[in-house]
Amino acid sequence: MTSIDVKTVPADPTSRDSLARRGLDYRVVSGDDIPDFVRAVHRGFLGPEPEQKVVDADASLYAENRLIGVYDPEAAQPYPVSTEMSWITSLSVPGGAAPMWAISEVTVAATHRRRGIARAMLEGELRAAAGAGLPFAGLTVSETTIYGRYGFAPAVPTSTMTIDTRRAGWSAARPEARLLFVEREQLAEDLGVLHERVHGVRAGNISGWEHRWRQQAGLTADAEKPRDIRGVRALDADGELVGAMAFVVKEGDEFAVNSLSVDLLIAATPDALAALWRFALTYDLVTTVTASRRPVDDPLPWLVADSRAIRQRVIDHGWLRILDVPAALRARSLNGALGLRLRVTDPLGIADGSWTVAKLGGAGLEIAELDEDARADVTLDVGALAAAYLGGATLETLADAGRVSGDPAKIAELSSALRTARAPHLPIWY
Ligand SMILES: CC(C)(COP(=O)(O)OP(=O)(O)OC[C@H]1O[C@@H](n2cnc3c(N)ncnc32)[C@H](O)[C@@H]1OP(=O)(O)O)[C@@H](O)C(=O)NCCC(=O)NCCS
Repeated sequence: MTSIDVKTVPADPTSRDSLARRGLDYRVVSGDDIPDFVRAVHRGFLGPEPEQKVVDADASLYAENRLIGVYDPEAAQPYPVSTEMSWITSLSVPGGAAPMWAISEVTVAATHRRRGIARAMLEGELRAAAGAGLPFAGLTVSETTIYGRYGFAPAVPTSTMTIDTRRAGWSAARPEARLLFVEREQLAEDLGVLHERVHGVRAGNISGWEHRWRQQAGLTADAEKPRDIRGVRALDADGELVGAMAFVVKEGDEFAVNSLSVDLLIAATPDALAALWRFALTYDLVTTVTASRRPVDDPLPWLVADSRAIRQRVIDHGWLRILDVPAALRARSLNGALGLRLRVTDPLGIADGSWTVAKLGGAGLEIAELDEDARADVTLDVGALAAAYLGGATLETLADAGRVSGDPAKIAELSSALRTARAPHLPIWY
């Protein structure tokens, strides 16, 4: 991980100057300005005016991170008209982990929208992150249409599953893990411990933080119906914690027709995963189970007797922005031998360039810059590289979509170098 303190990275001067020419003040937010920053974020995400206890709790969390605000001196309230928060996290990549500039709380006040404020703020953040030496930026998004223009791409798809439990049945062996209900404090702790243990298993995941697990368990000041949240833990034959699940049972129209919503399921072993799934699917008086943010290759269809009892909706979830192509390629493992001239284009000019990329036999990866006019074997935009980088899409699919061009044999070579055995997975929002 990097030793950079994100709070010491200055506001990007290009965005600061361009917004200043429009009478707006773009700056790092700290100290006594943080509570109003929190209020602006709640307003920006369509929330009600937050209670003071929520402001206090969020302010102490936000104070750990880098906050960017845009202020309009003519505003009638002391809130920034635009907000953004970032911190440096660890992104799991195939074969390892790399530092990533995580971006969150992007809002522009409805009174100031569509004047280019978000563009100035996001471009500024990406320049700041690249200037600080980060190879990646990442975020989860409210709308899919916003971030592609900045070189982000959906890189970690996710599946929402809806299961008809009267039809699903069970075909796998009976799992051995024991399940126990836990108090919500214990649930938060278990989720944190397990996330830390498994977050490097699949690419696309990031480090967790305590507030996230307390929020999942309904223990934060902003929790709406905290007491609806139930938790179970899974223990293996040695009594070791191997899984945890946060869920809610929702009442249906009839006493025997209820639904169970799995909000977060973390398993450290295949047996614990099967045990938690089986627990949900055999819950008495429940006929429908839904589960959010599951990996697209979740084994559930192979565990049940009737896989058509499961409906899956696959959507984008984790978005990735590559800021430094050579550093990104060096950060992950690549399959097989490789030798090609690669060109990457970037709408913001941060990560574009041409390189020879070679990995021969047991030797390490060699990357050397190429002349701009040298002919490339494979050309792609920085978003297409991000989409394939964690194993979420193949270069062949992206070529069919017009995002990758060049020699088909070289596209196939790079595509197989990037391929992963398991789909990437990001189980949380950030
Ligand atoms: C999304 C949001 C931050 C955009 O702010 P903004 O200042 O209006 O955006 P800008 O004026 O800088 O627009 C920049 C570009 O994004 C486009 N854009 C802005 N909002 C968009 C949206 N919701 N959907 C699609 N495109 C959008 C603009 O058309 C513009 O395109 P161009 O520069 O390529 O011509 C703002 O609408 C907002 O706060 N929405 C509610 C909160 C939210 O969803 N935040 C995102 C969290 S991930």
